[in-house]
Amino acid sequence: MYGPTNLPPGGPVRKVTVPELRDRKAQGPAIAMVTAYDFTMARLVDEAGVDVVLVGDSLGMVVQGLSNTLPVTLDEVCYHGRAVARALLRAHLVGDMPFMSFQVSPAQAIESAGKMMKEGAFESVKIEGGAEMAEHVARMVSVGIPVMGHVGLAPQRVHALGGFRVQGKTLEAAEQLLRDARAVEAAGAFSIVLESIPRELAARITSELRIPTIGIGAGPECDGQILVLHDMIGLSLGHTPKFARRYANVGEAISHAVAAYAEDVREGRFPADEESYHLSSEVRERLLAIRRS
Ligand code: KIV
Repeated sequence: MYGPTNLPPGGPVRKVTVPELRDRKAQGPAIAMVTAYDFTMARLVDEAGVDVVLVGDSLGMVVQGLSNTLPVTLDEVCYHGRAVARALLRAHLVGDMPFMSFQVSPAQAIESAGKMMKEGAFESVKIEGGAEMAEHVARMVSVGIPVMGHVGLAPQRVHALGGFRVQGKTLEAAEQLLRDARAVEAAGAFSIVLESIPRELAARITSELRIPTIGIGAGPECDGQILVLHDMIGLSLGHTPKFARRYANVGEAISHAVAAYAEDVREGRFPADEESYHLSSEVRERLLAIRRS
């Protein structure tokens, strides 16, 4: 493994860019996106070949142990962004704009996104909301901030929605989501996350938009997919949604490893002699010769 300032064997790797992500709509392959919140995990997912890494405000739930994302702050997102940015050699880095860091006004959105790019080392930002956020998106894009939209289930509205529920199930709600997605695209977003909506609706939005759609609980017709890393590797302690396919059980591996370590410590099996440092025989003898006080 190479260190944060080293280059990988074979020379520099080119970062995935915003125009390349836009082109993937027509050219494929589907965009593979995942969340990460720290240097080690970010390096692992980058080496594994994902195209985009999101420092999601989901960090409130999977890193901080909160029951929703609302308390996550701009400074916390920036802190995690810096750690992840140091690790990424290829993947594009997106930062989630936390609750109340953009809703107040387009000017507030520009200021917060600017801070995220300067202090969090993000290459683009993601913003929850539909038509009502179009002006915010347009103003950020106008000053050179690449924006990813996010419609469907907006976790920052958990209280208004009455929980983390599938959205767009009625004709009226589906039409509203279609209008929202169109508005976010027209405002200049370079891609859009579709969260927890019926597959058929996601397919319709995907076929209509010119920007790539990234699905999470939105079926296979999207132009890309995102999962919360902790859900997909078995590190989430609470309920995981039905769309979060589990690719590994890292949580169980950690539990077994730490239980075995604790047992070895209690039974005197750790550390072994080969895990210990030794004095030279000369120093050892001279130490033994010193009288105890
Ligand atoms: O915060 C997050 O991780 C997200 C993804 C679920 C899209 O917004």
